[in-house]
Amino acid sequence: MRLIPLQNEEQVSKWAARHIADRINHFNPTRERPFVLGLPTGGTPLKTYHELIKLYRAGEVSFKNVVTFNMDEYVGLPKEHPESYHSFMYNNFFNHIDIAPENINILDGNSSDHDAECRRYEEKIKSYGKIHLFMGGVGVDGHIAFNEPGSSLSSRTRIKTLNENTLIANSRFFDNDVNKVPKYALTIGVATLLEAEEVMLLITGHNKAQALQACVEGCVNHLWTVSALQLHRHALIVCDEPATQEL
Ligand code: GLP
Repeated sequence: MRLIPLQNEEQVSKWAARHIADRINHFNPTRERPFVLGLPTGGTPLKTYHELIKLYRAGEVSFKNVVTFNMDEYVGLPKEHPESYHSFMYNNFFNHIDIAPENINILDGNSSDHDAECRRYEEKIKSYGKIHLFMGGVGVDGHIAFNEPGSSLSSRTRIKTLNENTLIANSRFFDNDVNKVPKYALTIGVATLLEAEEVMLLITGHNKAQALQACVEGCVNHLWTVSALQLHRHALIVCDEPATQEL
């Protein structure tokens, strides 16, 4: 595990965006073998998306040969809803870069058969071999994607019931009304994430200090699913100073 402690969120975003651009640029893509990038939503990666858009506009990176897989999506929220992860990704990233629409993969939270949708997603990832770089954030309680505390560390893509802490944390995007937050989500599993060639987590802010501590210094355990990163050969944690308070 490599820990990159930086001063503030801005530096974290710049570092992360540069790392993604470098990985894409040093990859030798072909039509059959694109660079496969896993992506998160949430407040933390927003600035990194802005930085990537800047790099794209400056001609320093192109997404023409990049295929993306998002980590998760709410169940039952229409795609067009401003808080769906689908809308988030298009509004904050995909609409501003040169990625081909057919190269974008996001779980369908409105499918009639969630299990089949999750299987389809896993198979689609496998059809590319592997995800080369998975970027992620972390919940205050240490969840990665929507792998809530208590999730199996060998879990695959599936439907999850969101716990009270997550509903409360995410209610800030739903008029601070916890009842408006969808109760279920489709999410990649911990094992799906661990199979990526490299995982880069962005952890910023003092409210994430306990999660960072559990990730770096805690025992590997399913109550802090982020701790599973200790089992990964190429885990990269990029964090700011406030997040390091508990280390
Ligand atoms: C949600 C997402 C996670 C994300 C977390 C933290 O639960 N499913 O992928 O890491 O929120 O989000 P934020 O970065 O806004 O704190």
